[in-house]
Amino acid sequence: MPGLVLVGAQWGDEGKGKVTDLLAETADAVVRFQGGNNAGHTIVRGDEVYKFHLVPSGILYPGKQCLIGNGVVVDPKVITSELEELRHRGIDTSGLRISANAHLIMPYHLLLDHAGETKLGKLQIGTTRRGIGPCYADKAARLGIRVQDLLDEKILKQKITAAMEPKRLSLRPYAKDPSLDLHAMTEEYRTLGHRLEPFIADTQRIVWDALDNDGLVLFEGAQGTLLDIDHGTYPFVTSSNPIAGAACVGAGVGPKDIDDVWGIAKAYVTRVGAGPFPTELEDEMGDRLREAGGEFGTTTGRARRCGWLDLVALRYAVRLNGLTGLVITKLDVLTGIDPLPVGTEYTGPEGARFRDFPYHQSIVHKVTGSYTELAGWHEDITGARSMDDLPQAAQDYLAFIEEFLGIPVVLVGVGPGRDQMIWTEAARRVQQAAV
Ligand code: GDP
Ligand code: IMO
Ligand code: MG
Repeated sequence: MPGLVLVGAQWGDEGKGKVTDLLAETADAVVRFQGGNNAGHTIVRGDEVYKFHLVPSGILYPGKQCLIGNGVVVDPKVITSELEELRHRGIDTSGLRISANAHLIMPYHLLLDHAGETKLGKLQIGTTRRGIGPCYADKAARLGIRVQDLLDEKILKQKITAAMEPKRLSLRPYAKDPSLDLHAMTEEYRTLGHRLEPFIADTQRIVWDALDNDGLVLFEGAQGTLLDIDHGTYPFVTSSNPIAGAACVGAGVGPKDIDDVWGIAKAYVTRVGAGPFPTELEDEMGDRLREAGGEFGTTTGRARRCGWLDLVALRYAVRLNGLTGLVITKLDVLTGIDPLPVGTEYTGPEGARFRDFPYHQSIVHKVTGSYTELAGWHEDITGARSMDDLPQAAQDYLAFIEEFLGIPVVLVGVGPGRDQMIWTEAARRVQQAAV
Protein backbone atom coordinates (compact mmCIF):
# COMPACT_ATOMS: atom_id res chain seq x y z
CA MET A 1 0.00 0.00 0.00
CA PRO A 2 0.50 3.18 -1.28
CA GLY A 3 2.04 6.50 -1.77
CA LEU A 4 -0.79 9.01 -1.81
CA VAL A 5 -0.04 12.56 -2.90
CA LEU A 6 -2.34 15.32 -1.63
CA VAL A 7 -2.04 18.53 -3.62
CA GLY A 8 -3.80 21.86 -3.77
CA ALA A 9 -5.78 21.99 -7.03
CA GLN A 10 -6.38 25.76 -7.03
CA TRP A 11 -4.40 28.72 -5.61
CA GLY A 12 -3.72 27.27 -2.16
CA ASP A 13 -5.68 27.21 1.10
CA GLU A 14 -8.00 24.49 -0.17
CA GLY A 15 -7.98 22.64 3.15
CA LYS A 16 -4.94 20.42 2.63
CA GLY A 17 -4.08 20.49 6.34
CA LYS A 18 -7.46 19.16 7.44
CA VAL A 19 -7.49 16.39 4.82
CA THR A 20 -3.92 15.35 5.61
CA ASP A 21 -4.69 15.23 9.32
CA LEU A 22 -7.72 12.99 8.71
CA LEU A 23 -5.88 10.54 6.49
CA ALA A 24 -2.76 10.59 8.66
CA GLU A 25 -4.50 8.60 11.36
CA THR A 26 -3.61 5.31 9.66
CA ALA A 27 -0.58 6.51 7.71
CA ASP A 28 2.97 5.39 8.45
CA ALA A 29 4.50 8.68 7.46
CA VAL A 30 3.48 12.15 6.33
CA VAL A 31 6.04 14.06 4.28
CA ARG A 32 6.12 17.68 3.13
CA PHE A 33 7.96 17.92 -0.19
CA GLN A 34 8.08 21.60 -1.23
CA GLY A 35 7.42 25.15 -0.11
CA GLY A 36 8.22 26.46 3.31
CA ASN A 37 6.53 28.54 5.94
CA ASN A 38 4.64 30.44 3.27
CA ALA A 39 2.18 27.59 3.86
CA GLY A 40 -0.45 27.85 6.55
CA HIS A 41 -2.35 24.63 7.21
CA THR A 42 -5.22 24.73 9.69
CA ILE A 43 -6.50 21.80 11.70
CA VAL A 44 -9.53 22.12 13.95
CA ARG A 45 -9.96 19.50 16.68
CA GLY A 46 -12.88 20.30 18.92
CA ASP A 47 -12.14 23.67 20.50
CA GLU A 48 -8.47 23.52 19.59
CA VAL A 49 -7.19 25.20 16.41
CA TYR A 50 -3.69 24.39 15.14
CA LYS A 51 -1.95 26.33 12.39
CA PHE A 52 1.09 24.65 10.89
CA HIS A 53 3.57 26.35 8.60
CA LEU A 54 6.38 23.81 8.40
CA VAL A 55 5.39 20.91 10.61
CA PRO A 56 3.53 18.24 8.58
CA SER A 57 -0.17 17.93 9.37
CA GLY A 58 0.19 14.46 10.94
CA ILE A 59 1.94 15.66 14.08
CA LEU A 60 -1.16 15.50 16.27
CA TYR A 61 -0.91 11.69 16.36
CA PRO A 62 1.69 10.89 19.03
CA GLY A 63 4.92 9.59 17.53
CA LYS A 64 3.66 9.73 13.93
CA GLN A 65 6.56 9.97 11.49
CA CYS A 66 6.30 13.51 10.16
CA LEU A 67 8.98 14.36 7.67
CA ILE A 68 10.19 17.60 6.17
CA GLY A 69 11.65 16.50 2.86
CA ASN A 70 14.66 17.76 0.96
CA GLY A 71 12.47 19.88 -1.34
CA VAL A 72 11.23 22.09 1.50
CA VAL A 73 12.92 25.36 2.47
CA VAL A 74 13.25 25.52 6.24
CA ASP A 75 13.41 28.64 8.38
CA PRO A 76 15.10 27.18 11.48
CA LYS A 77 13.62 29.88 13.71
CA VAL A 78 10.10 29.11 12.54
CA ILE A 79 10.38 25.34 12.93
CA THR A 80 11.93 25.80 16.38
CA SER A 81 9.12 28.03 17.58
CA GLU A 82 6.48 25.82 16.00
CA LEU A 83 7.89 22.83 17.87
CA GLU A 84 8.06 24.81 21.09
CA GLU A 85 4.45 25.86 20.79
CA LEU A 86 3.35 22.30 20.11
CA ARG A 87 5.24 20.98 23.13
CA HIS A 88 3.71 23.75 25.18
CA ARG A 89 0.29 22.50 24.12
CA GLY A 90 1.22 18.98 25.19
CA ILE A 91 1.80 17.54 21.71
CA ASP A 92 4.39 14.79 21.32
CA THR A 93 6.71 15.96 18.53
CA SER A 94 9.13 13.03 18.72
CA GLY A 95 8.12 11.76 15.25
CA LEU A 96 9.37 14.83 13.42
CA ARG A 97 12.39 14.49 11.14
CA ILE A 98 13.97 17.15 8.93
CA SER A 99 15.96 16.29 5.83
CA ALA A 100 19.64 17.14 6.17
CA ASN A 101 19.47 18.22 2.51
CA ALA A 102 16.65 20.74 2.89
CA HIS A 103 17.71 24.33 2.28
CA LEU A 104 17.67 26.99 4.98
CA ILE A 105 15.95 30.33 4.89
CA MET A 106 18.50 32.85 6.17
CA PRO A 107 17.95 36.40 7.48
CA TYR A 108 19.09 37.91 4.17
CA HIS A 109 16.43 35.94 2.30
CA LEU A 110 13.73 37.67 4.35
CA LEU A 111 15.25 41.10 3.67
CA LEU A 112 15.61 40.38 -0.05
CA ASP A 113 12.01 39.15 -0.31
CA HIS A 114 10.86 42.38 1.29
CA ALA A 115 13.16 44.53 -0.86
CA GLY A 116 12.12 42.73 -4.05
CA GLU A 117 8.44 43.36 -3.40
CA THR A 118 9.00 47.00 -2.47
CA LYS A 119 10.98 47.54 -5.66
CA LEU A 120 8.22 46.03 -7.80
CA GLY A 121 5.78 48.62 -6.42
CA LYS A 122 2.42 48.22 -8.14
CA LEU A 123 3.64 45.12 -9.94
CA GLN A 124 4.37 43.24 -6.73
CA ILE A 125 3.45 39.58 -6.44
CA GLY A 126 2.12 39.84 -2.93
CA THR A 127 4.50 37.24 -1.54
CA THR A 128 4.22 36.11 2.05
CA ARG A 129 7.61 37.82 2.62
CA ARG A 130 8.95 34.72 4.31
CA GLY A 131 12.09 34.63 2.12
CA ILE A 132 10.87 31.71 0.02
CA GLY A 133 11.81 33.06 -3.44
CA PRO A 134 15.32 34.25 -2.52
CA CYS A 135 16.02 30.93 -0.76
CA TYR A 136 15.03 28.82 -3.77
CA ALA A 137 17.04 31.23 -5.96
CA ASP A 138 20.15 30.53 -3.86
CA LYS A 139 19.47 26.80 -4.07
CA ALA A 140 19.43 26.99 -7.88
CA ALA A 141 22.52 29.22 -7.88
CA ARG A 142 24.28 26.66 -5.68
CA LEU A 143 24.73 29.24 -2.97
CA GLY A 144 22.26 27.61 -0.63
CA ILE A 145 22.90 26.61 2.94
CA ARG A 146 21.44 23.29 3.98
CA VAL A 147 20.17 21.89 7.25
CA GLN A 148 23.29 19.71 7.61
CA ASP A 149 25.47 22.85 7.47
CA LEU A 150 24.02 23.92 10.83
CA LEU A 151 26.10 21.23 12.47
CA ASP A 152 29.52 22.52 11.45
CA GLU A 153 30.48 26.05 12.46
CA LYS A 154 33.35 26.37 10.01
CA ILE A 155 31.33 25.23 7.00
CA LEU A 156 28.39 27.35 8.09
CA LYS A 157 30.47 30.52 8.30
CA GLN A 158 32.15 29.85 4.95
CA LYS A 159 28.84 29.24 3.25
CA ILE A 160 27.19 32.31 4.74
CA THR A 161 30.13 34.41 3.53
CA ALA A 162 29.92 32.94 0.03
CA ALA A 163 26.15 33.38 -0.13
CA MET A 164 26.23 36.99 1.01
CA GLU A 165 29.08 38.11 -1.23
CA PRO A 166 27.09 38.41 -4.51
CA LYS A 167 24.23 40.09 -2.62
CA ARG A 168 26.34 42.94 -1.25
CA LEU A 169 24.79 45.57 -3.47
CA SER A 170 21.18 44.59 -2.85
CA LEU A 171 21.81 44.23 0.88
CA ARG A 172 23.49 47.63 1.17
CA PRO A 173 20.33 49.37 2.49
CA TYR A 174 20.37 46.84 5.35
CA ALA A 175 24.08 47.22 6.14
CA LYS A 176 23.31 48.16 9.73
CA ASP A 177 20.73 45.44 10.26
CA PRO A 178 22.03 43.36 13.20
CA SER A 179 20.58 40.19 11.68
CA LEU A 180 23.21 40.41 8.91
CA ASP A 181 26.28 40.43 11.14
CA LEU A 182 28.31 37.37 10.07
CA HIS A 183 29.45 36.35 13.54
CA ALA A 184 26.11 36.91 15.20
CA MET A 185 24.34 35.03 12.39
CA THR A 186 26.73 32.07 12.56
CA GLU A 187 26.37 31.96 16.33
CA GLU A 188 22.58 32.12 16.22
CA TYR A 189 22.28 29.46 13.52
CA ARG A 190 24.71 27.17 15.35
CA THR A 191 22.50 27.43 18.41
CA LEU A 192 19.45 26.64 16.30
CA GLY A 193 21.39 23.72 14.85
CA HIS A 194 22.05 22.34 18.33
CA ARG A 195 18.36 22.47 19.12
CA LEU A 196 17.32 20.87 15.84
CA GLU A 197 20.04 18.22 15.74
CA PRO A 198 17.89 15.39 17.18
CA PHE A 199 15.43 15.92 14.34
CA ILE A 200 17.91 15.98 11.45
CA ALA A 201 17.82 12.76 9.44
CA ASP A 202 17.98 11.03 6.08
CA THR A 203 14.26 11.45 5.49
CA GLN A 204 14.18 9.78 2.08
CA ARG A 205 15.34 6.52 3.65
CA ILE A 206 12.49 6.72 6.17
CA VAL A 207 10.03 7.14 3.28
CA TRP A 208 11.58 4.20 1.40
CA ASP A 209 11.33 1.98 4.48
CA ALA A 210 7.67 2.87 4.99
CA LEU A 211 6.86 2.18 1.32
CA ASP A 212 8.89 -1.03 1.25
CA ASN A 213 6.97 -2.25 4.31
CA ASP A 214 3.67 -1.62 2.51
CA GLY A 215 2.88 1.37 4.67
CA LEU A 216 0.76 4.35 3.68
CA VAL A 217 2.84 7.44 2.98
CA LEU A 218 1.07 10.76 2.56
CA PHE A 219 2.89 13.38 0.51
CA GLU A 220 1.47 16.65 1.83
CA GLY A 221 1.49 19.44 -0.74
CA ALA A 222 1.68 23.11 0.07
CA GLN A 223 0.35 26.02 -2.01
CA GLY A 224 -1.58 24.93 -5.09
CA THR A 225 -1.35 23.96 -8.76
CA LEU A 226 -1.89 27.47 -10.14
CA LEU A 227 0.93 28.79 -7.94
CA ASP A 228 3.36 26.32 -9.55
CA ILE A 229 6.48 28.10 -10.83
CA ASP A 230 6.39 26.18 -14.13
CA HIS A 231 2.70 25.60 -14.73
CA GLY A 232 0.93 28.31 -12.74
CA THR A 233 0.14 31.93 -13.50
CA TYR A 234 3.81 33.00 -13.73
CA PRO A 235 5.19 35.36 -12.45
CA PHE A 236 2.35 35.48 -9.91
CA VAL A 237 3.37 32.15 -8.42
CA THR A 238 5.47 30.73 -5.64
CA SER A 239 9.07 29.63 -6.20
CA SER A 240 8.57 25.87 -6.01
CA ASN A 241 6.50 23.21 -7.76
CA PRO A 242 3.37 22.43 -5.74
CA ILE A 243 2.17 19.92 -8.36
CA ALA A 244 2.20 16.18 -7.73
CA GLY A 245 5.29 15.48 -9.85
CA ALA A 246 7.36 17.43 -7.34
CA ALA A 247 6.52 14.92 -4.60
CA CYS A 248 9.06 12.56 -6.14
CA VAL A 249 11.85 15.13 -6.30
CA GLY A 250 11.09 16.77 -2.98
CA ALA A 251 10.84 13.56 -0.96
CA GLY A 252 13.29 11.39 -2.89
CA VAL A 253 11.08 8.69 -4.41
CA GLY A 254 10.32 7.51 -7.94
CA PRO A 255 7.08 7.99 -9.90
CA LYS A 256 6.27 4.31 -9.37
CA ASP A 257 6.13 4.91 -5.62
CA ILE A 258 3.03 7.04 -6.13
CA ASP A 259 -0.22 5.09 -6.30
CA ASP A 260 -2.81 7.83 -6.04
CA VAL A 261 -2.98 11.58 -6.39
CA TRP A 262 -5.82 13.48 -4.79
CA GLY A 263 -6.46 17.12 -5.52
CA ILE A 264 -7.97 19.28 -2.82
CA ALA A 265 -10.32 21.98 -4.10
CA LYS A 266 -12.75 24.33 -2.45
CA ALA A 267 -16.34 24.33 -3.71
CA TYR A 268 -15.49 27.87 -4.87
CA VAL A 269 -12.09 29.54 -5.40
CA THR A 270 -9.83 31.84 -3.39
CA ARG A 271 -6.51 33.48 -4.10
CA VAL A 272 -4.15 35.48 -1.85
CA GLY A 273 -1.79 37.99 -3.44
CA ALA A 274 -1.75 39.43 -6.94
CA GLY A 275 -2.27 37.76 -10.33
CA PRO A 276 -5.02 36.70 -12.71
CA PHE A 277 -8.22 35.13 -11.38
CA PRO A 278 -10.82 34.64 -14.15
CA THR A 279 -13.80 33.80 -11.92
CA GLU A 280 -13.10 36.44 -9.26
CA LEU A 281 -16.07 38.20 -7.65
CA GLU A 282 -15.25 41.78 -6.79
CA ASP A 283 -18.74 42.50 -5.48
CA GLU A 284 -20.98 41.73 -2.51
CA MET A 285 -21.05 38.06 -3.49
CA GLY A 286 -17.26 37.96 -3.11
CA ASP A 287 -17.64 39.58 0.32
CA ARG A 288 -20.31 37.07 1.22
CA LEU A 289 -18.05 34.11 0.36
CA ARG A 290 -15.17 35.70 2.30
CA GLU A 291 -17.32 36.17 5.40
CA ALA A 292 -19.05 32.78 5.21
CA GLY A 293 -15.80 30.94 4.52
CA GLY A 294 -13.63 32.93 6.95
CA GLU A 295 -11.32 33.66 4.03
CA PHE A 296 -8.45 35.43 5.73
CA GLY A 297 -4.92 34.09 5.30
CA THR A 298 -3.54 31.61 7.84
CA THR A 299 0.00 32.93 7.36
CA THR A 300 -0.38 36.65 6.72
CA GLY A 301 -3.98 37.38 7.78
CA ARG A 302 -4.67 39.01 4.40
CA ALA A 303 -8.21 38.94 3.03
CA ARG A 304 -8.43 36.24 0.37
CA ARG A 305 -9.92 37.15 -3.02
CA CYS A 306 -12.98 34.97 -3.70
CA GLY A 307 -14.75 33.70 -6.81
CA TRP A 308 -16.94 31.00 -8.32
CA LEU A 309 -15.72 27.47 -8.83
CA ASP A 310 -13.53 27.42 -11.96
CA LEU A 311 -13.81 24.09 -13.74
CA VAL A 312 -11.55 25.18 -16.61
CA ALA A 313 -8.65 25.66 -14.18
CA LEU A 314 -9.64 22.56 -12.24
CA ARG A 315 -9.61 20.39 -15.36
CA TYR A 316 -6.11 21.73 -16.04
CA ALA A 317 -5.14 20.70 -12.49
CA VAL A 318 -6.61 17.22 -13.03
CA ARG A 319 -4.43 16.64 -16.08
CA LEU A 320 -1.29 18.29 -14.75
CA ASN A 321 -1.30 16.35 -11.49
CA GLY A 322 -2.76 13.14 -12.88
CA LEU A 323 -5.47 13.37 -10.24
CA THR A 324 -7.20 10.11 -9.42
CA GLY A 325 -9.58 11.65 -6.90
CA LEU A 326 -10.93 15.02 -5.87
CA VAL A 327 -11.61 16.29 -2.38
CA ILE A 328 -14.18 19.10 -2.31
CA THR A 329 -13.98 21.23 0.82
CA LYS A 330 -16.17 24.02 2.19
CA LEU A 331 -19.35 22.92 0.40
CA ASP A 332 -21.19 24.31 3.45
CA VAL A 333 -20.09 27.84 2.53
CA LEU A 334 -22.29 27.76 -0.59
CA THR A 335 -25.49 27.07 1.35
CA GLY A 336 -28.16 29.66 0.59
CA ILE A 337 -26.68 30.82 -2.73
CA ASP A 338 -29.24 30.00 -5.39
CA PRO A 339 -28.71 29.73 -8.32
CA LEU A 340 -25.06 28.69 -8.20
CA PRO A 341 -22.86 29.66 -11.16
CA VAL A 342 -19.97 27.35 -12.06
CA GLY A 343 -17.25 28.48 -14.46
CA THR A 344 -17.18 26.10 -17.43
CA GLU A 345 -15.44 28.26 -20.06
CA TYR A 346 -13.45 31.47 -20.33
CA THR A 347 -14.35 34.39 -22.57
CA GLY A 348 -11.68 36.73 -23.95
CA PRO A 349 -12.13 40.47 -24.56
CA GLU A 350 -12.98 39.94 -28.24
CA GLY A 351 -15.46 37.23 -27.43
CA ALA A 352 -13.05 34.34 -28.02
CA ARG A 353 -13.99 31.30 -25.95
CA PHE A 354 -11.59 29.00 -24.17
CA ARG A 355 -12.42 25.53 -22.98
CA ASP A 356 -8.83 24.89 -21.88
CA PHE A 357 -6.63 26.89 -19.55
CA PRO A 358 -4.75 29.32 -21.87
CA TYR A 359 -0.97 29.05 -21.84
CA HIS A 360 -0.36 32.68 -22.76
CA GLN A 361 -0.22 35.08 -19.84
CA SER A 362 -1.81 38.03 -21.68
CA ILE A 363 -4.83 35.85 -22.35
CA VAL A 364 -5.08 34.50 -18.81
CA HIS A 365 -5.00 38.07 -17.51
CA LYS A 366 -7.88 39.18 -19.74
CA VAL A 367 -10.34 36.29 -19.72
CA THR A 368 -13.40 36.13 -17.52
CA GLY A 369 -15.45 33.11 -16.57
CA SER A 370 -18.52 31.95 -18.51
CA TYR A 371 -20.92 30.14 -16.27
CA THR A 372 -23.39 27.31 -16.13
CA GLU A 373 -26.03 27.97 -13.50
CA LEU A 374 -26.88 25.12 -11.19
CA ALA A 375 -29.60 25.03 -8.55
CA GLY A 376 -28.52 25.96 -5.03
CA TRP A 377 -29.77 24.61 -1.69
CA HIS A 378 -30.89 26.25 1.52
CA GLU A 379 -30.72 23.46 4.08
CA ASP A 380 -27.90 23.43 6.67
CA ILE A 381 -25.50 20.72 5.49
CA THR A 382 -22.91 20.94 8.27
CA GLY A 383 -24.33 17.78 9.87
CA ALA A 384 -24.27 15.69 6.68
CA ARG A 385 -22.08 12.58 6.98
CA SER A 386 -23.05 10.72 3.83
CA MET A 387 -23.91 11.78 0.29
CA ASP A 388 -27.52 10.80 0.96
CA ASP A 389 -27.69 13.35 3.80
CA LEU A 390 -27.07 16.15 1.30
CA PRO A 391 -29.97 17.97 -0.40
CA GLN A 392 -30.48 16.88 -4.01
CA ALA A 393 -29.10 20.19 -5.35
CA ALA A 394 -25.84 19.72 -3.42
CA GLN A 395 -25.54 16.15 -4.71
CA ASP A 396 -26.15 17.45 -8.23
CA TYR A 397 -23.46 20.12 -7.77
CA LEU A 398 -20.92 17.40 -6.91
CA ALA A 399 -22.13 15.15 -9.73
CA PHE A 400 -21.71 18.02 -12.20
CA ILE A 401 -18.10 18.49 -11.08
CA GLU A 402 -17.36 14.76 -11.36
CA GLU A 403 -18.91 14.57 -14.80
CA PHE A 404 -17.06 17.64 -16.07
CA LEU A 405 -13.68 16.52 -14.75
CA GLY A 406 -14.01 12.80 -15.28
CA ILE A 407 -12.71 11.87 -11.82
CA PRO A 408 -14.55 10.84 -8.64
CA VAL A 409 -15.14 13.07 -5.63
CA VAL A 410 -13.64 11.05 -2.75
CA LEU A 411 -14.25 13.31 0.26
CA VAL A 412 -16.53 16.29 0.86
CA GLY A 413 -15.98 18.91 3.57
CA VAL A 414 -19.07 20.37 5.20
CA GLY A 415 -17.40 22.34 8.00
CA PRO A 416 -13.98 22.96 9.55
CA GLY A 417 -14.34 20.27 12.24
CA ARG A 418 -12.64 16.91 12.00
CA ASP A 419 -15.93 15.07 11.87
CA GLN A 420 -17.46 17.44 9.31
CA MET A 421 -16.48 15.32 6.36
CA ILE A 422 -18.37 12.99 4.05
CA TRP A 423 -16.33 9.86 3.41
CA THR A 424 -16.87 7.83 0.25
CA GLU A 425 -15.99 4.17 -0.17
CA ALA A 426 -12.80 5.10 -2.04
CA ALA A 427 -11.52 7.22 0.85
CA ARG A 428 -12.42 4.55 3.42
CA ARG A 429 -10.55 1.97 1.36
CA VAL A 430 -7.34 4.01 1.53
CA GLN A 431 -7.72 4.45 5.26
CA GLN A 432 -8.52 0.82 5.96
CA ALA A 433 -5.93 -0.66 3.63
CA ALA A 434 -3.27 1.07 5.68
CA VAL A 435 -4.30 -0.49 8.98
P1 GDP B 1 -4.56 24.69 3.52
O1 GDP B 1 -3.49 25.72 3.41
O2 GDP B 1 -4.88 24.06 2.21
O3 GDP B 1 -4.29 23.66 4.59
O4 GDP B 1 -5.88 25.47 3.96
P2 GDP B 1 -5.98 26.61 5.12
O5 GDP B 1 -5.89 25.94 6.43
O6 GDP B 1 -5.07 27.74 4.82
O7 GDP B 1 -7.44 27.16 4.84
C1 GDP B 1 -8.57 26.34 4.87
C2 GDP B 1 -9.54 26.88 5.93
O8 GDP B 1 -10.81 26.29 5.74
C3 GDP B 1 -9.13 26.53 7.36
O9 GDP B 1 -9.51 27.58 8.19
C4 GDP B 1 -9.95 25.27 7.66
O10 GDP B 1 -10.24 25.13 9.04
C5 GDP B 1 -11.21 25.56 6.89
N1 GDP B 1 -11.91 24.38 6.37
C6 GDP B 1 -11.38 23.23 5.85
N2 GDP B 1 -12.36 22.43 5.37
C7 GDP B 1 -13.52 23.10 5.57
C8 GDP B 1 -14.89 22.80 5.25
O11 GDP B 1 -15.23 21.77 4.66
N3 GDP B 1 -15.83 23.76 5.61
C9 GDP B 1 -15.49 24.93 6.23
N4 GDP B 1 -16.46 25.79 6.53
N5 GDP B 1 -14.20 25.21 6.54
C10 GDP B 1 -13.24 24.32 6.21
P1 IMO C 1 -0.91 27.02 1.62
O1 IMO C 1 0.04 25.84 1.71
C1 IMO C 1 -2.12 30.59 -0.55
C2 IMO C 1 1.06 32.89 -2.52
C3 IMO C 1 1.36 34.27 -1.96
C4 IMO C 1 1.81 34.98 -3.23
C5 IMO C 1 2.57 33.88 -3.97
C6 IMO C 1 4.09 33.94 -3.79
O2 IMO C 1 -1.41 27.52 2.91
O3 IMO C 1 -1.97 26.74 0.61
P2 IMO C 1 5.68 33.30 -1.75
O4 IMO C 1 5.74 33.82 -0.36
O5 IMO C 1 5.41 31.85 -1.85
O6 IMO C 1 6.85 33.73 -2.58
O7 IMO C 1 4.40 34.06 -2.40
O8 IMO C 1 2.08 32.66 -3.47
N1 IMO C 1 1.11 31.79 -1.52
C7 IMO C 1 0.03 31.18 -1.02
N2 IMO C 1 -1.28 31.42 -1.20
N3 IMO C 1 -1.72 29.57 0.23
C8 IMO C 1 -0.41 29.30 0.39
O9 IMO C 1 0.04 28.20 1.04
C9 IMO C 1 0.54 30.14 -0.20
N4 IMO C 1 1.89 30.19 -0.22
C10 IMO C 1 2.23 31.20 -1.04
O10 IMO C 1 0.20 34.85 -1.39
O11 IMO C 1 0.69 35.32 -4.01
MG1 MG D 1 -3.19 27.75 3.84
